Amino acid sequence: MEANMPKRKEPGRSLRIKVISMGNAEVGKSCIIKRYCEKRFVSKYLATIGIDYGVTKVHVRDREIKVNIFDMAGHPFFYEVRNEFYKDTQGVILVYDVGQKDSFDALDAWLAEMKQELGPHGNMENIIFVVCANKIDCTKHRCVDESEGRLWAESKGFLYFETSAQTGEGINEMFQTFYISIVDLCENGGKRPTTNSSASFTKEQADAIRRIRNSKDSWDMLGVKPGASRDEVNKAYRKLAVLLHPDKCVAPGSEDAFKAVVNARTALLKNIK
Ligand code: GTP
Ligand code: MG
Repeated sequence: MEANMPKRKEPGRSLRIKVISMGNAEVGKSCIIKRYCEKRFVSKYLATIGIDYGVTKVHVRDREIKVNIFDMAGHPFFYEVRNEFYKDTQGVILVYDVGQKDSFDALDAWLAEMKQELGPHGNMENIIFVVCANKIDCTKHRCVDESEGRLWAESKGFLYFETSAQTGEGINEMFQTFYISIVDLCENGGKRPTTNSSASFTKEQADAIRRIRNSKDSWDMLGVKPGASRDEVNKAYRKLAVLLHPDKCVAPGSEDAFKAVVNARTALLKNIK
């Protein structure tokens, strides 16, 4: 049996699963869970101390699912407490705050922490991850846009939802899809169904979009040295245009990246004799 297969009480009907929350302190992990389980929002920040545990029952298709939720503290101080709780997990709610770039950049470190705690025999492939881009109600402070978050999530085969624990937006949809995916996983012998496991775009496309987004000028955007010739600019442009053309590329953010590349080429060619 797979290490992270859930325990069944009544084969085929009731299921018991374990889910955990992960992400930096103060991104809203506890509030997301509270919004779904208790239908309320607490605006005062009450840091989770180590870990909070709760049980809830949900129904997916004809099955009753008993969900054990382990809500982790995001503060580094609690590492020694939460590291015990990574194993035997079927689902992870991975949260960042769309107004805190650091919390988005930290997602890779959270995956690394989990991987390390699961050890060499742990298998992250057969866990359902849902990424919550939280606090979307705070539109003024938003600095991580949807395509950036979606690209990160989908390039890893993770689910992605825009959420607000404050207004409730996206919360029910997120949990419903998350639980359905976990049940699908369980019914598929503990393996992620193939439709979920691979993104519909390539790593090369995702990397190109990320590089374009983070480029410091038009040369950098096309990946050529400052002072490159017309030929070099056109060659680099054609390569990126083929990779990212909206007819060919469905990766989040590809349309904007394609437009940026067209503009960069036009701007550079104006100044090259
Ligand atoms: P730790 O337990 O320390 O890891 O933090 P956490 O990720 O559990 O954060 P928590 O849910 O406690 O929320 C942190 C703060 O953000 C609180 O003041 C919440 O009221 C606020 N908050 C959470 N979600 C939202 C949201 O969607 N919108 C807004 N505006 N505030 C939110
Ligand atoms: Mg908390």
